[in-house]
Amino acid sequence: MKIQIINGPNLNLLGRREPGIYGNRAFEDWLQTLRAAYPDVEFGYFQSNIEGELIDMMQQTGFSCDGVVLNAGAYTHTSIALQDCIRSLDAPVIEVHISNVHKREEFRHRSMISCACAGVICGFGLDSYRLAVEALIGIARQKGT
Ligand code: DQA
Repeated sequence: MKIQIINGPNLNLLGRREPGIYGNRAFEDWLQTLRAAYPDVEFGYFQSNIEGELIDMMQQTGFSCDGVVLNAGAYTHTSIALQDCIRSLDAPVIEVHISNVHKREEFRHRSMISCACAGVICGFGLDSYRLAVEALIGIARQKGT
């Protein structure tokens, strides 16, 4: 099974960025833990601060992998282009957030991409990504792949 993880703007700063909200672990470190926990899953990983690069990577991977885990960062709240992209793909996309966006500022309560995603997971720290992987494994099982 192939899962593509895509992180959007400022998520390259995980571990340094607002640790009270996002924790003090770098994503690459967490990814090692995730890979070790799911030896049968092939994980691709990509991060960009640029909206178009996120879309390019979604298009490149979202027709051939079994699922995409997407933390679009602040583009979650603004990007119709990402919404359109998610709708275009064959692979199911799970929207994730490290923080519980619904406990935070009101502008974070609205997502432009949730309506195009298979589901949304937020508020569990980096474990949100693992929960999304579990969700994608469940979807793949239902499909019988
Ligand atoms: C975030 C939440 C967004 O509102 C914010 O802009 C981020 C990170 C999260 O993972 O909690 O960059 O997606």
